[in-house]
Amino acid sequence: MNVIESILSKDELTRQDITLLLQANDEDRAKLFAKSAEVKEKYVGRKVYLRGLIELSNICSKNCFYCGIRSGNQDFTRYNLSDDEVVEAARYSWQNGYASIAIQSGEVSNSAFTQRITNLLKKINAATSSELGITLSMGEQTEETYREWFDNGAIRYLLRIESSSRELYAKLHPNNKAHDFGKRVECLRLLQRVGYQTGSGIMVGLPFQTIENLADDLLWLKEMDVDMVGLGPYVEHPDTPLYKYKDMLLPLDERFALALRVIAILRIIMKDINIVAPTALQAIDKLGREKAIKIGSNVVMPNVTPGLYRNEYKLYNNKPSTAEADEDCKKCLEARIRLTGDEIGYNEHGNPIHFTQRNKRIL
Ligand code: 5AD
Ligand code: SF4
Repeated sequence: MNVIESILSKDELTRQDITLLLQANDEDRAKLFAKSAEVKEKYVGRKVYLRGLIELSNICSKNCFYCGIRSGNQDFTRYNLSDDEVVEAARYSWQNGYASIAIQSGEVSNSAFTQRITNLLKKINAATSSELGITLSMGEQTEETYREWFDNGAIRYLLRIESSSRELYAKLHPNNKAHDFGKRVECLRLLQRVGYQTGSGIMVGLPFQTIENLADDLLWLKEMDVDMVGLGPYVEHPDTPLYKYKDMLLPLDERFALALRVIAILRIIMKDINIVAPTALQAIDKLGREKAIKIGSNVVMPNVTPGLYRNEYKLYNNKPSTAEADEDCKKCLEARIRLTGDEIGYNEHGNPIHFTQRNKRIL
């Protein structure tokens, strides 16, 4: 048994083990991927669940240094879908058996926004016989707001930590109260306390990020006991402050390869969570999501935002836009996922087993 084989045969991985796996050579990487695929099959099965992604609005009050829709960027059009457009996209997902939707928006925290989302949740549920599993991703909010949305039918919430290192987090965000690491962690705790299936995630290949940072991120996600993870490669955007560090980044294909390893290791250390096959992988390699599904991911988020607006939700460069998103049409998606050997869990919520098991223990 070589070093990697003996690591892969262990029950618990240490920080040192993870850093070795992240740097394994090609032959060993194949062993890592074989192991993560095996864990996926054993613990969550070879099924991929769909969440119709609705990009509600690109209006954001924050100014994260990496993000194309940050408030400081004025070089593009801000939009806000109408309630009817959102309900229509939700109905489309429901009628096509997607069973879940994820509504994503820039961060806005005020009572009008809270109220709007509450009303939207009511409208969506009325239009879809309350059958959709609704995920929200709207950033940091108060406990009351999280609770109000939960009470009105949202069951999952995604809030990425981006990096679990305080130091790196501080390099990626303005130094003010609106971008506080501790507050973000606290919000994740609130979400868990309210009862959401809670998701977080990171970006891979950020400037200043080390392999040890990534190992710590993986252990942090485990420690936080999240139910879902969405993580993807960092893709630089020219109209952002972080762009000036573009020359210190790994080449895109290496960021891609590293993100795949991170997903594989995550599957091994958090066996029964849901892991998204991220769109940011697809931005680098057309078959990126399929590659992620093969080695551990079990959720895909096809974009169901009305075509008109898709080009404006540009978090990063090369984000698949209107043209590519057509490949997410139902038939194309089916063909793509069939390529991986997995099947689509139509009409199933696909709740994370990690969440259902934990709650069974509590009851
Ligand atoms: N590259 C990759 N992912 C990004 N995000 C924002 N900007 C970028 C970028 N430049 C991701 C963040 C955020 C999510 C909405 O999009 O992880 O949480
Ligand atoms: Fe806003 Fe999220 Fe982009 Fe930060 S990452 S600027 S909170 S949309």
